[in-house]
Amino acid sequence: MSDLKQWSKSSWQQYEALQQPNWPDKEKYEAVVSALATLPPLVFAGEIRDLKTLLGKAGAGEAFLLQGGDCSEEFSRCTAPNIRETLKVLLQMAVILTYAGDKPVVKVGRIAGQYAKPRSSDTENVDGVEMPSYRGDMANSAEPNLEARIPDPERLMKGYNMSAATLNLLRAFTRGGFSSLHRVQAWNQEFVKRSPMGRSYERLAKQISHALKFMETIGIATDIPQMKQAQFFTSHEALFLGYEEALTREDSVDGGWYDCSGHMLWIGDRTRQLEGAHIEFLRGVNNPLGMKVGPNHNIDEILRILDRLNPENEPGRMTLITRFGARQIEKHLPPLLRAIKSAGKEVLWSCDPMHANTFNSESGHKTRDFENILCELRCFFELHWSEGTVPGGVHFELTGDDVTECIGGARKLSDAQLSQRYLTTCDPRLNAEQSLEMAFQIAEMIRTS
Ligand code: PEP
Ligand code: CO
Repeated sequence: MSDLKQWSKSSWQQYEALQQPNWPDKEKYEAVVSALATLPPLVFAGEIRDLKTLLGKAGAGEAFLLQGGDCSEEFSRCTAPNIRETLKVLLQMAVILTYAGDKPVVKVGRIAGQYAKPRSSDTENVDGVEMPSYRGDMANSAEPNLEARIPDPERLMKGYNMSAATLNLLRAFTRGGFSSLHRVQAWNQEFVKRSPMGRSYERLAKQISHALKFMETIGIATDIPQMKQAQFFTSHEALFLGYEEALTREDSVDGGWYDCSGHMLWIGDRTRQLEGAHIEFLRGVNNPLGMKVGPNHNIDEILRILDRLNPENEPGRMTLITRFGARQIEKHLPPLLRAIKSAGKEVLWSCDPMHANTFNSESGHKTRDFENILCELRCFFELHWSEGTVPGGVHFELTGDDVTECIGGARKLSDAQLSQRYLTTCDPRLNAEQSLEMAFQIAEMIRTS
């Protein structure tokens, strides 16, 4: 550690930053990030510290992390119904998991800032035309034409504004009564209600309502914030470092630096090089950090990254989000668990069963099979139990919408049905019904743990 240079919010600029858009107009870019640096923070240091405490509990098995949302948010879908439906499905999943696991569920959305995407190639070929890859709405447009694909820094500003609008509504929904446990039955969506999953949810919600009525009958107050409000946090991949730097502020309470673009930030599997700019930037901010770990990892490097990002070994600081795929998890997870455990590192283990289970279907859609997702999750829990480590969280790409992007599930969505409502511009998401089904399946796993 001693040969590390001093950190500042711009010290990452001395390192190689992968996966950055190639902004053609550098002056315009500088003007936008300078303007962003003067605008109010989106979240506050106190909230970030609260989340870190809760994640520390999840790491110790006293809480459970539920993280989920779009693969990539879109400006055109930043609407009240969309935000509300995503929140609803996360609240429903959280209720199912809380009821089964007898522990608090920490709710973190991939929301209000998930506008930047890493891509495997800088360019792509669309109908014979070579064009820059889509890198998320904060960089360029997903539209397949050359002009739309040119990165425009104004999009960073728009991303900030859209994140602020999203957060504003989330705060209203979670504080203003919408998320009250008294309304647990009302979160069930119309199109899900009549499905088997919807009915299972309805039964659970009724039990909770009865329990609340019982408490009121015998004189226990249920008119308290724990019942009437939900604690909900935001997260996104900290990818475009100019944007993240601009939102990084010094807290007047503890004097530390916080990236106030979201509560939790994660480092993608493609940008976690020990000597890369992303690790350099994130080591200096006090937010809880996620780090994706895929099949191409090196255990020694992961240990060194943990030393770099969490030298004090603070609980709640690091969440390792493993994404090995149903086929490879048994090979990769146990050695990693053993190495981290024997090094005495404090981490929260979370499972992303989405990103290594993607494939191209016969109909030409990028999809995921519900069975593979479930299979990776089951293995995750079982491998942790046999290693004596804590399976403390899950990470999903999902939406409250009735989309057809992942195959399988109770309705046995088929490849032929994918084109009906395939809306994602990036990776395929679980729809509301598949998300509930997934939550009931995880509930079974945590009940037996
Ligand atoms: C993602 O979470 O959308 C993502 C790109 O994941 P990973 O870095 O694990 O591929
Ligand atoms: Co994705």
